[in-house]
Amino acid sequence: MLVAKAVDTEYLGVTTSGSTGRELGMAIQNHCHNDKALIGQSCPGQISNILPKASRHQARKTIARWSGYAPTPLRSLLTLAAELGVSDLWYKDESCRFDLASFKALGGAYAVQSKLQMIIGEACGHKIAIDEVDRYRQHAESVTVVTATDGNHGRSVAWGAERCGCRCVVYMHEQVSPGRQEAVEVLGARVQRVKGNYDDSVRQAAEDAKANGWLLVSDTSWPGYEDIPRTVMAGYTVMSGEAMDQWPNVEPPTHVFIQGGCGGLAGSVFLDLWCRYGPDRPRFIVVEPQTAACLYESACAGKPSVVKITTETLMAGLSCGETSHIAWRILETAVDDFLTINDDLVGPLMRRLAQDESIVAGESAVSGLAGLTEVMRDQKLADQLGVSEHSRILVFGTEGATDPAIYDELVMS
Ligand SMILES: Cc1ncc(COP(=O)(O)O)c(C=O)c1O
Repeated sequence: MLVAKAVDTEYLGVTTSGSTGRELGMAIQNHCHNDKALIGQSCPGQISNILPKASRHQARKTIARWSGYAPTPLRSLLTLAAELGVSDLWYKDESCRFDLASFKALGGAYAVQSKLQMIIGEACGHKIAIDEVDRYRQHAESVTVVTATDGNHGRSVAWGAERCGCRCVVYMHEQVSPGRQEAVEVLGARVQRVKGNYDDSVRQAAEDAKANGWLLVSDTSWPGYEDIPRTVMAGYTVMSGEAMDQWPNVEPPTHVFIQGGCGGLAGSVFLDLWCRYGPDRPRFIVVEPQTAACLYESACAGKPSVVKITTETLMAGLSCGETSHIAWRILETAVDDFLTINDDLVGPLMRRLAQDESIVAGESAVSGLAGLTEVMRDQKLADQLGVSEHSRILVFGTEGATDPAIYDELVMS
């Protein structure tokens, strides 16, 4: 059996199993309103400059030319919106993002290509265009890129390496599923298993990169390591840019609920939306698994914080105990509310999306939406977050069935 199962719970009209047997209405574990959030203001320069407009534009221009590129759909969840009592509910569906089935395809692979552009340019003694990188495979093959992953980011880096012709090593902690290892290996990367959790694998990858002269392409950042994670995050804004272009209302969304791992996703999306909508920006809400809530803890502590992961969450892509430093510089004043949720919400919501909307949503795709559904079951919290029948909500379904065996077990059971 791949995932834990226990009691049956009636949830959103779907009977399913949860791992703890919690009482209904208790799935929001924690809520922290961020008093430092800047409301009714344009995005300050010191934040927008973390991912300048030119870098977001460059990412979009480059990725739009990748073979197989197409904007992913923005889907209206009409029935669920009516059930929850909100005006609009839109789901950006990343399940068909290239062949990788997650938004992470936009980040790691783009950073590999950008970095190789510089390395090859230096080796050749003249600048090369970013689109020309794959024509210089004889230079690329002497480069080894390395990263740590709980699945999707490593797959993206491996894909980028395969496309550009360089070597790739991907570090995975012991709990990452065999299916996710396989998805990386078919792209030609070598997988190195590491004892411990995701944060241990990040440390090991960084140490080995230094010792071997490999290029570390991490999606999380720490003091002194910012450049590449910034490029990764610029890639993610392709998704938010598409979503804003697809947004069907004249009025912007009122709320965005998004899931948090190390914070790179939330940071890039919120920065991008804030730059576009200015003082009318939506209320930004981050949702994390209770057992890996480093962003929530950072908000409580007022600085990037670490949580020790002792129990792995079902939301594998969100299993990060350490906050990305550059992401935190955005999140500390962009995010209005931090929520943590229980794993029990995940399976039922995946099943609901599959059955009622024909949407393939993986374990880490539904957390933002799960945060919303739980808020709407608690009138006091809904009032605090200002969610009402007038609200226009945007959520990001960040992956499809990235591990088909786990997906089937959760959705088909
Ligand atoms: C599907 C999915 N959603 C969300 C995230 C969270 O992204 P971040 O770690 O940048 O916060 C991840 C991270 O791997 C992911 O794979």
